[in-house]
Amino acid sequence: MKIGVLTGGGDCPGLNAVIRAIVRKGTFHYGDQFVGFLEGWRGVQDNKAEVLDLAKVSGILPRGGTILRTSRTNPAKREGGLQRCIDNLKRHGCEALIAIGGDDTMSVAQKLFELGVKVVSVPKTIDNDLSGTDFCFGFDTAVEIATEAIDRVHTTAEAHNRVIVVEVMGRDSGWIAIYSGLAGGADVILIPEKPFELEDVAEAIRLRHSRGRYFSIVVVAEGAKVAEHSSDNVTLDITKDEFGHVRLGGIGNLLAKEIEKRTGFETRAVVLGHVQRGGSPTAFDRVLGTRYGSGAIDMVHRGEFGKMAALRGTEIVAIPIKDALSENRKVDQALIDVALGLHDKIGGEARREVIQST
Ligand code: F6P
Repeated sequence: MKIGVLTGGGDCPGLNAVIRAIVRKGTFHYGDQFVGFLEGWRGVQDNKAEVLDLAKVSGILPRGGTILRTSRTNPAKREGGLQRCIDNLKRHGCEALIAIGGDDTMSVAQKLFELGVKVVSVPKTIDNDLSGTDFCFGFDTAVEIATEAIDRVHTTAEAHNRVIVVEVMGRDSGWIAIYSGLAGGADVILIPEKPFELEDVAEAIRLRHSRGRYFSIVVVAEGAKVAEHSSDNVTLDITKDEFGHVRLGGIGNLLAKEIEKRTGFETRAVVLGHVQRGGSPTAFDRVLGTRYGSGAIDMVHRGEFGKMAALRGTEIVAIPIKDALSENRKVDQALIDVALGLHDKIGGEARREVIQST
C-alpha cells in the first residue's frame, strides 16, 4: 500500500520516533511504500513531497524536531485548498494518509476524511491537552526540561533572596505547569483552568516569607489568566495564525512586576518558551511515539479510517478523530487537589485559584 505521512502544527520531541515506527513496521510487516509530505498540510496542498523510506528514518530516533518539517498551514482556509490536497494525494498514488498533529491538524484530517480521504491520525501536542488520549508524546520531555529549569532557578533564587517566576507552555491547559511545578516543588502554580487574583499570589508569597522563608518559586502557564484583567490572555502578538491562535507570552513578566510591587520582594521572570519543545526526546516519549506510530500503521491496515491512535491506560486504541476534537482536555481536579493538599490554606480558607505556598 502507498501511504502519505505528514507532521503538522508545533513540533515536539518524539515526532521522529512516530515517523520511524510507521515506516519500519509498514515496510517490514506490510510491504508498504511511503510519501513524506513536507511542512505539514502545506506539503499536501502545494505538492512538496519526497520518498520516505528506511534510509530516511535511519538514526532519527533520538532527534528532536521532525524530519518532515512542519507548519501551521490550514488548507481549509485557502480557496480550493482541500481539493488540492485530494488531487496531490491522488497524484502520488496515496491510498491512505497518516496525519501526525494536534487539534488543528486533526480538524483538517477530519474534513478530508468527510471528503473521502482515508485518514488516520496520531495525537501530538506538547500541551498534552487533546481529548481522548491519556498522554501525548513530547509532554514528558517538556516536563523534564521545565523541571530542570525550576531546580536551577531554585538555587539562584535562594542565593539572592528572590522570587522567581517561571513561565512554561500551555495555551488552554496547565499540564506542563502542574507536572513541572509538582516535580520541582514550586510554591505557587498558576494554570489556565483557574483564573487567579494577583493579590492572592502576593498574599501566598507574603505568608511563606512571614514563616522565615526568604525565596519563592512561581510556575505559570503562558495561558493562565488574571481574573482582574477580565480573564484575557496575556499576548505577545494578537495577529491570528491560520487556525485562529494569537501568540501568547508575557504573563511571567507581568506577574513578576506585580509580585515585586505588592510584596516588596525582589522578583525575576524566566520564560522557557521553545526550549521546552527542542532537543532529544526522553526514553518515555521515544517509546510512546513508537507505540503510536506502530498503532497508526496497524489501523491503516485494519481500515480504521477517520480515527486517531489513542493511549487509554496502557493500551493504544482507535477512537474517532471527532471525539478528540470535541473539547480541550483540562488538568484533572484530582491532580489540582494533590497540589493543594501539599500546602497551607490562606486565612483558614482554601483559595482554589492559586496553589498556595507554605
Ligand atoms: O500548541 C502548542 C504550543 O507549544 C503552545 O503551548 C504555544 O502557545 C504554541 O504552540 C507556540 O506556537 P509557535 O511555535 O507557533 O510559536
